[in-house]
Amino acid sequence: MSKALDGVRILDFTHVQSGPTCTQLLAWFGADVIKVERAGAGDITREQLRDIPDVDSLYFTMLNHNKRSVTIDTKNPEGKLVLEALIQKCDVLVENFAPGALDRMGFTWERIQELNPRMIVASVKGFGPGPYEDCKVYENVAQCAGGAASTTGFDDGPPVVTGAQIGDSGTGLHLALGIVTALYQRTQTGRGQKVLAAMQDGVLNLCRVKLRDQQRLERTGTMKEYPQYPNGMFGEAVPRAGNASGGGQPGWILKCKGWETDPNAYIYFITQAPVWTKICNVIGKEEWASDPDYATPAARLPHLKDIFAEIERWTMTKTKFEAMQILNRYDIPCGPILSMKEIAEEPSLRKTGTIVEVDHPTRGKYLTVGNPIKLSDSPTEVKRSPLLGEHTDEVMTELGYSPEQISALRTAGAI
Ligand code: COA
Repeated sequence: MSKALDGVRILDFTHVQSGPTCTQLLAWFGADVIKVERAGAGDITREQLRDIPDVDSLYFTMLNHNKRSVTIDTKNPEGKLVLEALIQKCDVLVENFAPGALDRMGFTWERIQELNPRMIVASVKGFGPGPYEDCKVYENVAQCAGGAASTTGFDDGPPVVTGAQIGDSGTGLHLALGIVTALYQRTQTGRGQKVLAAMQDGVLNLCRVKLRDQQRLERTGTMKEYPQYPNGMFGEAVPRAGNASGGGQPGWILKCKGWETDPNAYIYFITQAPVWTKICNVIGKEEWASDPDYATPAARLPHLKDIFAEIERWTMTKTKFEAMQILNRYDIPCGPILSMKEIAEEPSLRKTGTIVEVDHPTRGKYLTVGNPIKLSDSPTEVKRSPLLGEHTDEVMTELGYSPEQISALRTAGAI
């Protein structure tokens, strides 16, 4: 079966997490992704957080599936010529170097345009143009600068970063969309263009609702769905809302049976208005359904803490899965707090290809997250990540280099 991005060639200059997530997605959609790495070392994540000595780390293998790896010294004059040949052959160059690194290599936008006017040059940077544009940025810096950290955590504690990699993988996703959009526009214009996804912007985009709340707060001085109402004071900026749902339907994380020893024996419980009577019946507080202090969403707001405490008395008598089963019978929205162990073992995620077992020549079998985006006409087959330089000869031959030329370039240290 054909793939959505068949025929698209990506010159992948990415490393660490943000860029590699983007090019991995493009590879899963069928693009030929040629990852350029430094000879001898490669992407730094190959050796970071290793669990097996001298074997590519899971950090690397889980972000670089379905790619080919070539090693080129881009600072070597002959290496630069190989890179020029690649630029002429590819449709998209993706990079997430520190600001200015591509220019310092000699590959400015103007130079790339001279070589290939159809080339799309896509970059992840920490910040867009402005006071911080020259800064190097990693995941948690982006979470802090994009508004996620100041709005995450509990009001009586410090800002908190989330385990979801919204700065790196989130920006990689944004960049992938920018790239396919630019490819589509190129079918009309015939021209390439620059695509920029700044990590601060990507995080802020995902924190859009908090900028909404900032303006509501400034206008009204309060926000009724926040736990600070009515128990606390609002300051000038959006406060941390703990586990409040943030929408019109109040929610909270509640203990379940076994919470004393299992750190994930919890459930997220939403007191959705249309099922309020059912909630009252399930937890044995039938009288709340008609009590004017509890019967309507507005009346309940000042009592939310007590309401959740009462519901928790019920959830603590059930495991999170038992509670799920009972609550789902009544269409009461809720979700178990699943550990990574439980997720890894979940058969339905294996069935859909969201969790995949991959075999690797030096590491053996490992689990990875497959393509979360499913296309009916372009199914994803997850293939192992490449070894360092595994495809150098193959790609050089495709570029028209003879075996003698390849060996001379290798002797010169260019590849
Ligand atoms: N051959 C020769 N040199 C190479 C090369 C190759 N194949 N590939 C990269 N290099 C060089 C670059 O040219 C650069 O050299 P220079 O600084 O002399 O110009 C150098 O390697 C290092 O690149 P850099 O990107 O600065 O790496 P770093 O380890 O110092 O910084 C980051 C890492 C992530 C902080 C930085 O790349 C960054 O801020 N990226 C943008 C934001 C981002 O994506 N952050 C999230 C990472 S998950």
